[in-house]
Amino acid sequence: MFGITDWHRDGTLAEYAAVEARNLAPLPGNVDFTVGASLPISGLTAWQGLFQHGRLQAGQSVLAHGAAGAVGSVVTQLAREFGAYVIGTGRAADRQAALDFGANEFLDLDHEDLDDIGGVDLVFDVIGGDIQRRSASIIRPGGTLVSVVGPVEARPVDGLAVDFVVESVPSQLMEIVDRVRDGRLRTHIGTVATLDDAIPALNPTERRKGKTVIRVRP
Ligand SMILES: NC(=O)c1ccc[n+]([C@@H]2O[C@H](COP(=O)([O-])OP(=O)(O)OC[C@H]3O[C@@H](n4cnc5c(N)ncnc54)[C@H](OP(=O)(O)O)[C@@H]3O)[C@@H](O)[C@H]2O)c1
Repeated sequence: MFGITDWHRDGTLAEYAAVEARNLAPLPGNVDFTVGASLPISGLTAWQGLFQHGRLQAGQSVLAHGAAGAVGSVVTQLAREFGAYVIGTGRAADRQAALDFGANEFLDLDHEDLDDIGGVDLVFDVIGGDIQRRSASIIRPGGTLVSVVGPVEARPVDGLAVDFVVESVPSQLMEIVDRVRDGRLRTHIGTVATLDDAIPALNPTERRKGKTVIRVRP
């Protein structure tokens, strides 16, 4: 099975956890647990942000922030699959990964200007702050800012601003895992081979032999 445990409880690194059946979907035998573990939060967040909260329509344009990251890479792939034009963002080093996930173009947030994009219909924000504020100002009339980093601080002049916390929805989990099985979707953890590799990749803080090791990303 795979899914999301109750947000209001700790312990996702425990060997055993009791989870309500309504939060789970079957993990197909040909999808390994490492990939399965990486799917619910990134996949459901992308799905719900694009389709439930962002009401994405084919032909619209999406600004997918952090397009090489966990959520942004799935946002990029799903938006492309549903017929959107996707501008991925991130740092200079993320360009190729974002394009490989299917972004039509890439904007380096450290060196390029969001205003040069013109207008977009949907901003998917995973960063917040000043980048969220600048992104809100380029949303076309009737467009939407969707954010997953807390209460939105900026609004489009003529459009919606939505923030949300992801929920476990089994039917959506099945949509997502089907896409992984048939190759339409891949997670950004890609090359992680074993559960031992996955734990530090998925969690910035790792406990080893009673010591807490803080992993610093390169
Ligand atoms: N509300 C919800 O339900 C929900 C669900 C899922 C995630 N989230 C939140 O969404 C955020 C993103 O999660 P994630 O798992 O996708 O993280 P992630 O894998 O680290 O992806 C974020 C990406 O954005 C890039 N980025 C961040 N700040 C940037 C900046 N100032 N300029 C350029 N690039 C920048 C990161 O690059 P670097 O690594 O180089 O900084 C990274 O590639 C987190 O804050 C997470 O807590 C919320």
